Amino acid sequence: MIVVQYPQEKGDAEIPRKIIALENTAWPQTAETETFPSAADTYVTSFVVMEKETAVCHVGVRKSVLLHKGQKYLAYGLSEVVTHPDYRNQGLATQTIEKAARYILDQHPDISIFTCERSRVSLYARGGWEAIKGACFVGGSKEKPFRSDSLGLVTMMMFLSPNGKRHRADFENTDIVFTLGENQLW
Ligand SMILES: CC(C)(COP(=O)(O)OP(=O)(O)OC[C@H]1O[C@@H](n2cnc3c(N)ncnc32)[C@H](O)[C@@H]1OP(=O)(O)O)[C@@H](O)C(=O)NCCC(=O)NCCS
Repeated sequence: MIVVQYPQEKGDAEIPRKIIALENTAWPQTAETETFPSAADTYVTSFVVMEKETAVCHVGVRKSVLLHKGQKYLAYGLSEVVTHPDYRNQGLATQTIEKAARYILDQHPDISIFTCERSRVSLYARGGWEAIKGACFVGGSKEKPFRSDSLGLVTMMMFLSPNGKRHRADFENTDIVFTLGENQLW
């Protein structure tokens, strides 16, 4: 198995198709014809574990600017974290999330933020994120906000820059509103 970072200058041109095939194992509603990445304006990169010609684990990295309670933050998040059913519970997601975490730290953002199911909090906590009490990540668009609490998801964060650390309390028990585009949530 090897871990590749996508996109690459001279990499496997088939990687997007292989990531879509992997995502179909978890979210079968994703059409084979769908393009990767979805929501290209917030997409940064992916870490992909390849077993020969098959993508078996994927972690996407996203970014956006967040205006929150009078402050401007550069925010990085994770999305589309998935391991092929035949390769689960071997630590693949844990290792790939750690790689994505290192990459995010290297970009020097103010915060890192995304949502996950409650049962997955420990997976992301191993990578350095923590569940934030009462925080609701609001994605979607201005006209059609997409609330993480409508799906019962937990908001995970890291406070990284001095400004991010200073305003930590501003993220508890509150809505955190991004403008990501219709139906988009990290
Ligand atoms: C969630 C998901 C990505 C986890 O992938 P995975 O590769 O099985 O994850 P890991 O193997 O790193 O960790 C899963 C469990 O395996 C166990 N494990 C087994 N061997 C391990 C090892 N060598 N190192 C670390 N954990 C190991 C851990 O206990 C862990 O359980 P925990 O997170 O509750 O502590 C995978 O189940 C999946 O694709 N689910 C469907 C899509 C989905 O729900 N994505 C997440 C959206 S929030």
